[in-house]
Amino acid sequence: MKDVVIGFLGCGNVGGGVWKLLEGFQKELAHRDNLSIRVKRVLVRDVNKARTCAVPRELLTTDVNDVINDPEISIVVEFMGGEQPATEYMIRALRAGKTVVTANKVAVALNWHRLQAAAQEHGVGLYYEASVCGAIPIIDTLNHSLQANRIQYLMGIINGTTNYILSRMYEKGEDYSAVLEDAKRLGLAEPNPASDVEGYDAAYKLSIMSSLAFHARVPFSKVYVEGITRVTAMDIACGKEMGYVLKLLAIAKRDGDNIEVRVHPTFLPGSHPLAQVNGSFNAVYLKGHACQEMMLQGRGAGDMPTASAVVGDIIHASVADVHVHPTFANTPDADAILTFEDNWTSRYFVRISAVDKPGVLAKVAGWFAKENVSIATMMQKGSVEEGRVPLIFITHEASEKAMQAALAAFDPQICTVDSMIRVEK
Ligand code: NAP
Ligand code: HSE
Repeated sequence: MKDVVIGFLGCGNVGGGVWKLLEGFQKELAHRDNLSIRVKRVLVRDVNKARTCAVPRELLTTDVNDVINDPEISIVVEFMGGEQPATEYMIRALRAGKTVVTANKVAVALNWHRLQAAAQEHGVGLYYEASVCGAIPIIDTLNHSLQANRIQYLMGIINGTTNYILSRMYEKGEDYSAVLEDAKRLGLAEPNPASDVEGYDAAYKLSIMSSLAFHARVPFSKVYVEGITRVTAMDIACGKEMGYVLKLLAIAKRDGDNIEVRVHPTFLPGSHPLAQVNGSFNAVYLKGHACQEMMLQGRGAGDMPTASAVVGDIIHASVADVHVHPTFANTPDADAILTFEDNWTSRYFVRISAVDKPGVLAKVAGWFAKENVSIATMMQKGSVEEGRVPLIFITHEASEKAMQAALAAFDPQICTVDSMIRVEK
């Protein structure tokens, strides 16, 4: 029997789930893998806080050295969250010859090059399956199973909190802030939920995922980010009426040396596979030149789904003879040969409030036409209020810059732009 002694950095939602999963899994580990995994020390901020798992009080510590300097501990598992001090603690653990397993997408996205360099220098492992899409094995899939592919694009619902919120708003027309409170209560949201709703959580994950997919470091700073805080129930209802479902989508495309990476609310036709992915489920839809299209779907957040990925990494790290690292140049900046596209092509949903007078529609059509933006559909929603009427347009494909230029030309005396949401096929 191989005895593996591990230490935790953090013991909140995810740490509590990992404790519970390990506790209930010892028989299988012994029987199946001839392995025993014991948690020796657990770093927390407050040792007196009530916990969701039955971690014994004597294992808790507020001194990180008790975990990373303990010679018996061979694997340090991090689920504290945030860039610091988590990154420095993980680097210290790696330099002390310990393999690190982490669920922390912020630390990996921003400091991956430092973490990987420390791991390689000291001949230990760095595992981060749980940092992207909770239980879905997307990291392992990209790192191993899809290695024979040139990935052309991937698009995904990679934040459980926002998908939970948008699904409830779509299904029940509920209010945004009330649903966010439920997402927090269910342990889906980040310690600071602004990261979820402002799109940063998805952008960190997209930076990691697209780097692996494209075999090149895609820095977080290159990801265009727009969250769901300005999405209204009215937009969702209008989209629904026109056959669209609103999702916070993470999109990455590669065309030669040109890469496009963006996170923003997106309308999808109801028939799109990603449109059916609801609640805290995540999904990644991708296309490789050999595998063609595929979709991976599963729980993207929550204590036990995330623990599933963390414990999978712990077991793998415990039995691995060699630790494998991505082979692309893991540098802080992107390779100089790459360019990052900020003038992508999309269709657009535009909702305006227009003065209810003859000739107004012609003016609006003219502003679109001047920038070569062509209208595919138009709908009037609701009735005249304070002399203005709500109008919704869906455009044909146009470039982002043309669209922004068209909207900038709209005269507020005639109409105001209430929302602009990208539409994917
Ligand atoms: P959480 O519930 O807030 O837990 C954080 C834990 O870390 C707590 O136990 C806290 O101690 C401890 N901690 C934080 N800062 C510390 C510090 N400076 N020193 C010592 N201990 C510290 O957060 P979570 O939801 O479990 O998320 C943890 C990580 O997992 C994050 O990186 C998150 O992005 C990632 N993740 C979360 C999910 C999810 O569904 N929640 C899914 C995938 C990945 P106290 O308990 O004493 O406060
Ligand atoms: N807050 C994150 C989410 C947790 O909602 O997806 C999983 O990374």
